[in-house]
Amino acid sequence: MKVSVIGCGYLGAVHAAAMAEVGHDVIGIDVDADKIARLAAGHPPFYEPGLAEILTSATATGRLRFSSEIADARGSQVHFIAVGTPQVQGGYAADLTYVNAAVDSLTPHLSEGDLVVGKSTVPVGTAAKLAERIQASGTGARLAWNPEFLREGFAVQDTVAPDRLVYGVANGEGDPAVAILNEIYAGAVAANTPVVVADYATAELVKVAANAFLATKISFINAMAEIAEVTGADVTKLADAIGYDTRIGRRFLNAGVGFGGGCLPKDIRAFTARAEELGRGESVAFLKEVDQINLRRRQRVIYLTVQALGGSVYGKKVAVLGLAFKPHSDDVRDSPALDVAVQLRGLGAEVVATDPQAIANARARHPQLGYTDDVSAALQGAHAVVLVTEWPEFSAIDPEWAATLVSVPVVVDARNRLDADAWRAAGWQYLGLGRP
Ligand code: UGA
Repeated sequence: MKVSVIGCGYLGAVHAAAMAEVGHDVIGIDVDADKIARLAAGHPPFYEPGLAEILTSATATGRLRFSSEIADARGSQVHFIAVGTPQVQGGYAADLTYVNAAVDSLTPHLSEGDLVVGKSTVPVGTAAKLAERIQASGTGARLAWNPEFLREGFAVQDTVAPDRLVYGVANGEGDPAVAILNEIYAGAVAANTPVVVADYATAELVKVAANAFLATKISFINAMAEIAEVTGADVTKLADAIGYDTRIGRRFLNAGVGFGGGCLPKDIRAFTARAEELGRGESVAFLKEVDQINLRRRQRVIYLTVQALGGSVYGKKVAVLGLAFKPHSDDVRDSPALDVAVQLRGLGAEVVATDPQAIANARARHPQLGYTDDVSAALQGAHAVVLVTEWPEFSAIDPEWAATLVSVPVVVDARNRLDADAWRAAGWQYLGLGRP
């Protein structure tokens, strides 16, 4: 099928490349000409495993092109809206400026039978309003809402082989959009991927409910970590034990410095803002607790570091291992790791941070921090080591080797990924989160 993808950020660039990879004829469109030039040359503007490979292979087939002109969407039958919906400045709601601008600029180029497919995460009620706008344009185009569940770091795999497909449509199973979307996702549908056909509101809510649930699960275990800290219990064992109950499950029960990124934090805030607008603020008021538990974990990491250094980090070298909000990503949006590094620096520490992918993005936002791409340079002479992003290469550090580099063998394991016994045996003072 001929497909356009409007917005080529983390979501859109992966979606465009993946749609071409599965056989569609795709044009990716973004207002940022620099980003478009990089994508067209096969260079992703961000780090995502596997993306460079499919960009190159799909571009070589001629099925994937990029443009900064919205008029180039003309002639495509399906138009994905994949622009960002960040948190508004000075508030909690989602900023719909880019979604509205994308739809308004696309509308003059639509034809009878075209399908506009929203993938951006939006407050419930947005799709119905956009459908009215598209209908009022008199083009004969339709709208569907098809939320995206990809995880950064696994985005290519999640797009090509999703665990479920959700189609929000105006007229139920018989809506013409259902057949078009089934053709778009023919490979996944043939592989028996569950397809949920729903109305617009349900499809919009599925997305925010999923992220709210995941955020709640993480904050639940982090709340248990807070209790473990005053009782001497071990939250990692607790998570293992409750995780064996298949109704609970072990995934997303890793206690640590908490969640960040471009999705979970802003999505739970936008959800509370929207629920309040709808007069149902109390229904999701618990998400404010989820948010606060999450943010408290960052303070706990700072507190442990300060305490371990005798009450002050002023003038002390702190090696910060990790800057990205999670491993296999260069994304530092609302990153707990970067936040901890910045706060330690604000307390007077000489912070030297390292990360396999995220240094450039972190430096652009916080040039005042020290950076090195060499782990041993970060550790050299450090008075404390803080592990804040669980890259496998950090978890694999040999504690005996690391002990020969640092000035003071103190490690704060803010992701609970290190072998506490091995680090202690190598002479380290080991401090985890929610662990004795
Ligand atoms: C999240 C969702 O998992 C995706 O399903 C969704 O499509 C995406 O948001 C989105 O809305 O676009 P992502 O932001 O890539 O994906 O990251 P996650 O893997 O969910 O991790 C979020 C944060 O939670 C990270 O900072 C991670 O370190 C933290 N986390 C995760 C924990 O602290 N503990 C855990 O047990 C799991």
